[in-house]
Amino acid sequence: MFHTSYIEINKSALKSNLRFLKGLTGPDVRFCSVIKGNAYGHGIEHFLPLAEECGVDHFAVHSADEALRAHMVRRKESHVMIMGMIDDDQLSWAVENDISFYVFEFDRLEAAVYAAKKQNKKARIHVELETGMNRIGFAWEDRDKLVTFLVRNLDHLHLMGVCTHFAGAESIANYLRIQNQIANFNRYQWYLRKKGARAEISHTACSAPLVAYPHTKMDMVRIGIMQYGFWPSKETFMQYLTQNGKTKMTDNPLRQIISWKSKIMSLKKVKAGDFVGYGTVYQTTDDTLIAAVPVGYSHGFSRSLSNLGKVLVHGRRVPVIGMVNMNMMIVDVSHCPGVKRYDEVVLIGSQRNNRITVSSFSDMVNYVNYESLVRLPREIPRFILE
Ligand SMILES: Cc1ncc(COP(=O)(O)O)c(C=O)c1O
Repeated sequence: MFHTSYIEINKSALKSNLRFLKGLTGPDVRFCSVIKGNAYGHGIEHFLPLAEECGVDHFAVHSADEALRAHMVRRKESHVMIMGMIDDDQLSWAVENDISFYVFEFDRLEAAVYAAKKQNKKARIHVELETGMNRIGFAWEDRDKLVTFLVRNLDHLHLMGVCTHFAGAESIANYLRIQNQIANFNRYQWYLRKKGARAEISHTACSAPLVAYPHTKMDMVRIGIMQYGFWPSKETFMQYLTQNGKTKMTDNPLRQIISWKSKIMSLKKVKAGDFVGYGTVYQTTDDTLIAAVPVGYSHGFSRSLSNLGKVLVHGRRVPVIGMVNMNMMIVDVSHCPGVKRYDEVVLIGSQRNNRITVSSFSDMVNYVNYESLVRLPREIPRFILE
């Protein structure tokens, strides 16, 4: 292997997560797998075909560059949807390849019609409504202009969806705001329908609303974090447990599908009282056996985990000591008898009976799972574990 670490993606864990999620959505709700942010760090090119093998045929990305990557590896029957950025120049490409995209600005709508005419084919659009997140979407005040435009251009526009996004359904603190958003969405979509702009499907829910506000699942859910085996927040997990009469934290139906592994590059004895690595960040109290692991902040292992992070060696949680460097970190392996160069080091995942989850890793540096995952660089090789 040319790389200093690698990522494994566990197919049976993905299958099991998808089965659980299908149980939550019910059979009639479409499942859209959100693979933006390089499939939350798992790798679009690896994750998408695997998800297809597990029965998924609808994928959502943020932008045209991600859509291109997804398009290159998808099966013909799978659909790709862009939820964010696409330049007008790429709209023709999207129309030609049946890639649907969100519209939330009038000039994009006009550009979509232009691209559709050029391709002599309808542009597949999802009309995003502003319901209170105040991010992107057509405002309620623009409803007449919007519906007039849509109805007038139905020969060129395929209204695949009407949609919105909730502003933090993973926290009960946002309860009232979410309730308002649900009401605003319903009012807006009924208005569009009444005036003749009826979309094929409505979709609003991502992972947290599917659990916390199940009626928001409508015709399709757009699921990111939960398919990868993580809860959007501890609160959402607690909500799931209480809704289902479960009392143990171990009743977690989701399985993390990612593992990240490296190996020991060098071993060295350091005397009691010496400093380890740069500066005076870490001083040994006893004679210490240290191991250098060739993973650093350039590989996505945060510098904030200096003197704080843990990795697994010989099934033990061992501490990161000193600063995390650009390309390596030092860990204390004094309590791993028989430890040798090239022994496996688990940065995320399990070894023997121990486990380092992304969330424990994230808690230590105050990142949410989402951020820790997407920081994993594209260059780290990914392997599928069947
Ligand atoms: C518009 C939209 N839909 C769906 C998702 C997926 O969210 P989650 O990963 O919480 O399921 C996101 C992610 O932020 C999003 O921005």
